[in-house]
Amino acid sequence: CGIVGVVGKPARDIILKGLTNLEYRGYDSAGIYLNDLKGHEYLTKAVGRIRDLKNKMTPDEQGLVGIGHTRWATHGKSTVANAHPQFDETHRFYLVHNGVIENYTQLREKYLKGVDFKSETDTEVAVQLISKIARDKNIDGFTAFKEALKLIKGSYAFLLIDNTKPDHVYIAKNKSPMRLGLGKGFNIIASDAVSVLDQTKTFVDLNDGDVGDITKDNYTIETIDGKKVTRKPYVLHMDANAASKGGYEFYMLKEIDEQPAVMRRLSQDYLDEDGEPTVDPKIVNAISKADHLYIFAAGTSYHAGLVGKALFENFANIPTEVGYASEAGYHFPMMSKHPFFIFLTQSGETADSRVVLQQAIKRHIPSLTMTNVEGSTLSREADYTMLLNAGPEIAVASTKAYTAQIALQAILAKALGEKLNVKAAKDFQLKHELAIAAEGMQQIVDGKEKMEKISKKYLVPSRNAFYIGRGIDHAVALEGALKLKEVSYIQTEGFAAAELKHGTISLIEKGTPVIALINDPVTADLTRGNIEEVASRGASVITIVSKKLANKNDDIVLPNIDYYLSPLLTVVPAQLLAYYASKDKGLDVDKPRNLAKSVTVE
Ligand code: G6P
Repeated sequence: CGIVGVVGKPARDIILKGLTNLEYRGYDSAGIYLNDLKGHEYLTKAVGRIRDLKNKMTPDEQGLVGIGHTRWATHGKSTVANAHPQFDETHRFYLVHNGVIENYTQLREKYLKGVDFKSETDTEVAVQLISKIARDKNIDGFTAFKEALKLIKGSYAFLLIDNTKPDHVYIAKNKSPMRLGLGKGFNIIASDAVSVLDQTKTFVDLNDGDVGDITKDNYTIETIDGKKVTRKPYVLHMDANAASKGGYEFYMLKEIDEQPAVMRRLSQDYLDEDGEPTVDPKIVNAISKADHLYIFAAGTSYHAGLVGKALFENFANIPTEVGYASEAGYHFPMMSKHPFFIFLTQSGETADSRVVLQQAIKRHIPSLTMTNVEGSTLSREADYTMLLNAGPEIAVASTKAYTAQIALQAILAKALGEKLNVKAAKDFQLKHELAIAAEGMQQIVDGKEKMEKISKKYLVPSRNAFYIGRGIDHAVALEGALKLKEVSYIQTEGFAAAELKHGTISLIEKGTPVIALINDPVTADLTRGNIEEVASRGASVITIVSKKLANKNDDIVLPNIDYYLSPLLTVVPAQLLAYYASKDKGLDVDKPRNLAKSVTVE
């Protein structure tokens, strides 16, 4: 879900375009409020896509101030009434909101008895509350807003318009992302900078607890208690075109294809000409003091963390645990004496991960965020940041961020291992191996028709499927399965190859696709044995094998690469199989149902 607000410029098209750029976050309904500052206002809401919203608007519905929203249902179904902007009984205040108000039931009971609610949303409670406070205390809208914020508990990025003073947009942020963009004679507010990069490149980051009053030529930021704060503007160096589709039908394929370039860029940014890591020595020093690493993440980033564990243990010789952020937040794991936390998060905004980071801060545990988004919340709150430099990832299903996370963890593991005198790290020809990865990825994406054929024949007709592998291939099996199920809706499980026979093999029937990954020389023969077990029970087996372990019957043969970097290649056919299964089923590849790109609720 996302928000865009504009003041001082014809707002409608900027908002609609900004919301379209935010589509990648996932949503199920959308809405917009416009005010032309001559006494006309327009509120339009629609279930479905931005184009459905656009279709409901007439050309003369324009405004010099406006706020827009895409909603991903949390409280209340996806309906027009529940879409934002929400408004109060007197139709004076209009509010859009990302986040969740935790105490909305209590607020309604305590302050809003008798109010006629038009929606089931927590957001309407907020806007009715603001209006009630303004009326009861006879104070202006902005002051009432701040009074309401003192009562509201939860996460929010709010944009508020008071139509008695329509040339202002009032904003507030707590835990949900929001940036202020500065223009000449206009200002703009959005969930992320990418969505409005064609309007401005000058931004102001807002902190939790910030409240603002934005007009076309001015902005003031203060705390909820009214203390003025200064937040410095900066110029964001990002190419607006980088976020556009560049001729591809879907972002997912574009992003899969970009992976060789991402590998090369990381190699350039973090390794010198001799292949020595140029990671900030402060980071290497801090981590080298740790006796234990803890990686926390969600979804695809969690799967990248599983590969990271193998990298840090092998190259840096530091015991490493990987945990779901959503679990660790409230059941904090037992700590070693000198722990160090690594957060893997493409967006840098995942609420589940942020909860764990807050715990780390409280307990004085040092932390690093690896993220794709400069200035994102987890990046600002952790002690250290390493950027993935993968360029904007728009498709909901993560691809290039996953491989970037693995490559960057390998770079950090090498830097640490060299500092700690670990032989495996010194011998690791990482720059060379990353070049092989880039080359190999290129070969795989150049031969993508093969994956389309396999997908059409085995996956598209199937209701369920399996990925199996051992060692590092097990980690990739989990990611391959997630990719396939999230975009194609084929129920897929990733399994440790030998574990299947302890129960789950009962699901194998004639024709069940089983995709087997074989890159681990130590267990390759054993995995072949597990393949026999499923094949003899009727499974259609598809093998993805590195060249040195391949035989003539294998389906997808990958270029040779260091075992520890093999996920960089193995995952690419898996991504392509998922992409084609989704596309050939006629699904919306970039925006699978029920999902959001960046989940800022717990
Ligand atoms: C959401 C997305 C996943 C992503 C996960 C973690 O669930 O749909 O694709 O892997 O969040 O996101 P992060 O930005 O923290 O890596």
